[in-house]
Amino acid sequence: MDVVVLDDAEAVAAYVAALVLDAVVREPELVLGVATGATPLPVYRALARGSGDFSRVRVVALDEYVGLPAGHRGSYTEYVSQEIAYPLGIHPGNVVMPWGSGAELERRITELDGVDLQLLGIGRNGHLAFNEPGSPLDSRARVVELTESTRAANAAYVDPVPTHAVTQGLGTILDARELVLLATGTVKARAVSAALTGAVTPDCPASVVQRHPRVTVVLDAAAASMMAPWQTSSGWSARAW
Ligand code: PGA
Repeated sequence: MDVVVLDDAEAVAAYVAALVLDAVVREPELVLGVATGATPLPVYRALARGSGDFSRVRVVALDEYVGLPAGHRGSYTEYVSQEIAYPLGIHPGNVVMPWGSGAELERRITELDGVDLQLLGIGRNGHLAFNEPGSPLDSRARVVELTESTRAANAAYVDPVPTHAVTQGLGTILDARELVLLATGTVKARAVSAALTGAVTPDCPASVVQRHPRVTVVLDAAAASMMAPWQTSSGWSARAW
């Protein structure tokens, strides 16, 4: 696992945007797994300011609320459309959003021959996509109930926050060929530390990334503040300590 710690959220966004751009230059038809939420927003905005050619890129989202009407501003379908597809010039037909029971999402990902590069955020309770604590580490795409803490954290963006969502499972996420997890702010420090330095356990779903052979974690100093330098010394390359 490659853990990169940078000064602030702006530096994290620039770093991750460069990783994505490199991947698209290498593979113009990249299957890019996108995380939604506040953390990756500056990444998409940085990409939109650049001159990368995303015209052949395919995009797959991690999750979506259940029950929001089409076009709802708080839906991730709108987020992906307004913040990613439109600004980057990605054809709407090349965007896969989760819906239904989750089986359709698995089928679409298989049709695309899997996700090449998956961007991930992390919840303050350690959730990954909408896999809340207790999610099986080999779970597949499915409908889940959201915890109160997740609903409270997301209330600023959609009100009321739906009670359920359809999400890629932890097993689905692990099938991606490469993972990039980003986190910023002290509010994420505890979850980051548990996920990266604790046991791999359903209690902290994001800990499952430790099982993936190709992971880059990009943190700002605040999100890394509960990890000590020695925790990155064995087998990890911590470039910025
Ligand atoms: P955030 O969400 O980027 O809005 O903090 C991340 C998550 O809950 O996975």
